[in-house]
Order: sequence, then structure tokens, then C-alpha cells
Amino acid sequence: MNLKRLDKIISSQFNISRSITKAIIHRGKVKVDGQVVRDPSLQVDVDSVCIEYKGQVLSYKEHIYIIMNKPKGVLSASEDKSRETVVDLVPPELFRQGLFPVGRLDRDTTGLLLITDDGDFAHMVISPKKNIFKTYKVLLDGDITEDMFEQFEKGIVLADGTKCRSAKLKRVCENTAEIKISEGKYHQIKRMFGVVGLGVNELERVALGGLKLPINLGAGECRELTEAEKNQIFDN
Ligand code: URA
Repeated sequence: MNLKRLDKIISSQFNISRSITKAIIHRGKVKVDGQVVRDPSLQVDVDSVCIEYKGQVLSYKEHIYIIMNKPKGVLSASEDKSRETVVDLVPPELFRQGLFPVGRLDRDTTGLLLITDDGDFAHMVISPKKNIFKTYKVLLDGDITEDMFEQFEKGIVLADGTKCRSAKLKRVCENTAEIKISEGKYHQIKRMFGVVGLGVNELERVALGGLKLPINLGAGECRELTEAEKNQIFDN
């Protein structure tokens, strides 16, 4: 049994405030197992109950897991006074309170970003202990040279003396590389390339663990992750 208050369930799943939810229930707009219920505090088992509101049967999800193709110019944050955030881009049918990005991409970085309301899940993905590799495609202002492979493999020491973990560097074509890192220090990739004298012109995250950025997900688009995709993240 997974008992929860009726008003809490409706408010979280339909993204309606608790006070409005209570009013809706009082007005007899909600059915539980086919019967109108007017008590917002009713405890129901979310695993077995059938809740209807506005003719819609609610399929309860404790948490939501969203994959986004982050566009340029948008902040990796839940909210900001003046600038647009990735959570602002979540469409109403996926939106709920408590959403936040799993880790951060710089404002000018594009690509795979997860958004969720599940703190434990986010911790598992971000924690360096889990060793989940993030893959980035990088457009540089120069070409990578042979000696850089070893430098990245050994672990770059950033300008402030911070030692990075071993990173996997691959040359894709002239001025373009793919890099895999298993940690997420501030501006890490830009700073790593800075150490070897290269500037980053474009940065795109193309994979998280074994989960690739879907090719049919356009810039700024998002959708729910499937269960299989969720597992791919941990399949490094
Ligand atoms: N490294 C960076 O420098 N920026 C990002 O957005 C992600 C990794």
C-alpha cells in the first residue's frame, strides 16, 4: 500500500495549487473508484485507486524523468528572475512543482539534459562515485595534437591546480573532438582545453552514460524518459 492524501495527489499530478485542488474536491469534481469524493484529506492507495478529474483518469507517477535537448542561451536552473531557464521550457503536460535540472550545462552549451523532481535519482546520476561518463562533442578553435590524448588520459591539471580525472579524448575531424568525463567541475571542459591552449567554440552533450541524445529531439524539445532509457544512463 502506498497511501497518500487525495488533494496532494491531484495537486502534484495535475500541477494545480493545493488550495484550488481542495476547492475542486469540495465542489464534487473528483471521483475515486467511480464515486464522487468531497474530502480532500481522504487517504487513498496510489497503486490501486482510480482517480478521475475532468473525465481524465489519473495515472499516478511518484516522480517524473524528462530528457531535454537544451538549446543555447537558456539557464540550467529551476527559476531565475530575468532569464529563461530549462524548467521554463517544460511543456504544461510534463510540468510539475519541484522540477530541477540534473547537473548543469553552461548557458551556451547545448544537448542532453535531464530534468526531474527526484532528488535521489539526480544524486545517483551526478555523484562522481557512480563514475557515469558524460560525452561531449566539442568544436575547438584549433586542432588537437597527438600529445593531448595522453595528457587527457593522465588527468589534466587545471589552471587553479585542480587535478581532473582521466578523460577520454577522440579526434572526430579537424577542430572537432569528442570527450568523455566522469565528473562535473565548473566549466570543466572549457578549462581542460584551455590548459592545452585550445578555445571551445561549441559544446554539445551527446550522451550520459549509455544514454544518447535522441536524434529526433530538436533543440528546446523534451519528453519523458522511457524506463529502458533510464537504465541506459547507468550502463556506462
Ligand atoms: N564543461 C563545460 O565547460 N561546460 C559545460 O556546460 C559542461 C561541461
